[in-house]
Amino acid sequence: MGTQESQESNEQAGGGTGRRALLGAAVLGAGGAVLGLSGTARAAGAGHGSGGLKSLPVPTVIGHRGASGYRPEHTFGSYQLALDLGADIVEAGDLVPTKDGHIVCRHEPEIGGTTDVADHPEFAGRKTTKVLDGVSTTGWFTEDFTLAELKTLRAIERIPANRPHNTLYNGRWEIPTFEEVLKWQDEQTRKRGKQVWIYPETKHPTYFRKLGLGLEERVAKLLRKYGKDKKNSPVILQSFEPTSIQRLNKLVGNPLVVLLSTAASRPWDFVETGDPRTVADLIKPAGLAEIGSYAQGIGPTLDLVIPKDASGNLTTPTTLVADTHAAGLILHPYTMRNENPFLPANFRKGTDVDAYGDSFGAFRTYFATGIDGVFTDNPDTGVLAREDFVNG
Ligand code: G3P
Ligand code: CA
Repeated sequence: MGTQESQESNEQAGGGTGRRALLGAAVLGAGGAVLGLSGTARAAGAGHGSGGLKSLPVPTVIGHRGASGYRPEHTFGSYQLALDLGADIVEAGDLVPTKDGHIVCRHEPEIGGTTDVADHPEFAGRKTTKVLDGVSTTGWFTEDFTLAELKTLRAIERIPANRPHNTLYNGRWEIPTFEEVLKWQDEQTRKRGKQVWIYPETKHPTYFRKLGLGLEERVAKLLRKYGKDKKNSPVILQSFEPTSIQRLNKLVGNPLVVLLSTAASRPWDFVETGDPRTVADLIKPAGLAEIGSYAQGIGPTLDLVIPKDASGNLTTPTTLVADTHAAGLILHPYTMRNENPFLPANFRKGTDVDAYGDSFGAFRTYFATGIDGVFTDNPDTGVLAREDFVNG
């Protein structure tokens, strides 16, 4: 398994007291202004037509890596279930390139934690250590495999200690390509008689560009091929690297969202270009105004919306929701998960790392801040929580 840390500040080991850790081994121990509406003003079940962002229910329920609370992430099993459970948008997918320039759906280039590559002796020699965005990472990397080779692998559950039931599905699904996702989106829209939305993310775009595998042009080419590169297309694009979003802004008309990690962190493209700003700078009114010149929204970690105290309990909401809306942007924070270790301490029930806490209470608290939507591994819980919230 790779050793790269997740960019998610709330992917913490049990108890939430340790340094943030990859959703993997470390866990084992443990609207708004754009829509012209408040988070409470639009009922769930609003139209899903081709009317762009305005057609989405608010707060919007975004299936994080599909329905990854129930199926191995970034598989068609996970994506399909997200739709079945009522997600308004499916995060299909996090995008990384192959050696031969195809775009596939994995959360990171290292695939040892989410596929059975370690069980393939023919690929044993591909295991290596690289520095990925400044982090030494050991494992197998998509950029060292052709698409045909990756297609011989099968997905596995990333966090079996937290999600033991999901291991039932280990080995069932292959790695999807982004092109397959675009076709699947159209098939599902036809079958369900309702527009299916997706929310792809460019992963480590500076890292891949330096390898000659730039993501944005490839993603834009595929969106154009399938007629999904317009302002009202049902595809929102996201990235932790603002320059990736700026690049996409020149290539396509889709809604764009800048992801934001912890306040003290610096987007990796800023590190590479010498831009000294941190996320704390980007969430000031001037930073948000600048983001508004090339994007339609932000995707902050939930901790930027309601910080936690030293014990992991939620404290007082920041002004981020109001500031974001004042800048004319929407706000889709990440990530709500039902299991104890991922919830704020005051919403946990017991200490079992695979048991659910009071997720509804946490959803309610976050929705009350006025967020326009949320990424969640448990879309069914999110949809019910949204119903509760909207119906008062
Ligand atoms: O894209 C929103 C959220 O998914 C960002 O976190 O690390 O899961 O891609 P990550
Ligand atoms: Ca993501």
